[in-house]
Amino acid sequence: MNKRSVTAMPESVHVIEDHASGLSGVIVLHSTVLGPAAGGCRLWDYASQGDVTADAVRLAEGMSYKNALAGLPLGGGKAVIRRPQGAFDREALFRAFGHAVDRLSGQYVTAEDVGTSVEDMRIVAGQTPYVSGLPPRAGRPGGDPSPWTARGVFLAMELAALRQLKRPLSQCTVAIQGVGNVGAALALMLHEVGAKIIIADTNSERVARVANRTGAMVVSVSNIMKVNADILAPCALGGVLNANTIPQLSASVVCGAANNQLAVLEESDRLADRGVLYAPDYVVNAGGIINVAAEYLGWNRASVEERVNATACRLLHVLDHAESSGVSPARAADGLARAVLEGSMEMAAAA
Ligand code: NAI
Repeated sequence: MNKRSVTAMPESVHVIEDHASGLSGVIVLHSTVLGPAAGGCRLWDYASQGDVTADAVRLAEGMSYKNALAGLPLGGGKAVIRRPQGAFDREALFRAFGHAVDRLSGQYVTAEDVGTSVEDMRIVAGQTPYVSGLPPRAGRPGGDPSPWTARGVFLAMELAALRQLKRPLSQCTVAIQGVGNVGAALALMLHEVGAKIIIADTNSERVARVANRTGAMVVSVSNIMKVNADILAPCALGGVLNANTIPQLSASVVCGAANNQLAVLEESDRLADRGVLYAPDYVVNAGGIINVAAEYLGWNRASVEERVNATACRLLHVLDHAESSGVSPARAADGLARAVLEGSMEMAAAA
């Protein structure tokens, strides 16, 4: 295999603007080495265009590593749209976004992310074929990827609990930060195996719904990171593992769905120094992109199940590599992903 060099710098950054619909954002292609750059479209509030680009660049790099380690024939990319102020025409916004995706001629494949839905992707699909996460056709993968993401996180958490705490999840307390699509599904799975659950979300309706179904204890969003729990599952937004929060953690395992949980990579050393096992976000949250890839590439449901079920094996591989090389799991995961992208290692699709 030829060796290629991998850096944090993206291959290209495409500013997307459409004044009529209010579309303003970027599409970032971090790497197309393994295939078209795949990664969802985020719609969120940002203070500046610089913040939009910075977030998209980091998320796109994470997608390259996630797809590489999951053994997918896809590169990494991300679209970030700045939420227009006040009321806006959502259909017009996503039509304009679909045009922008189409102009990249298949170098970028979009799907849902925070703030976007299956319905939004249906509108995008009216403008371009380079979209996934559409309503499933009979018996085929498709639709909301969140249940698959939650399943992968759950399986990884089972492994992390056994490795670090020497206990099954039924004997663990799990604090979930954010009970949106992934966090709520994860809470139900944990409830089914008898884990104790603590939840927090800025959305009080979601908190009430999940608490009703699982009997979870509810705490405030300011307390969820430091609440007394064995495992913390960040399932809201990124940057939550930082210099302020890590010293306050009571959990000795962190395993959740949110992308870019570490404010900076060095925080993974701080976690390791405190004896906290951090399951790298992009290793454990690949279930959704596996389902998105299967839909786009025409794979069947059994193949999605097999690849998502292998999440714990992939985490084990990363944790063993971290232990044998004396680095944090996050650094080990980055190293393995870069080796795949550089062509010096292949990742088996299901292990
Ligand atoms: P979502 O938007 O459905 O849920 C996020 C939840 O977090 C919302 O209920 C929101 O109210 C809550 N939240 C926001 N700020 C909060 C705070 N400070 N404290 C507590 N809760 C807060 O998003 P979804 O799809 O569940 O994704 C969650 C995370 O997982 C995101 O970071 C996303 O990028 C990541 N992810 C999601 C995948 C998917 O398949 N949906 C795939 C891979 C990663």
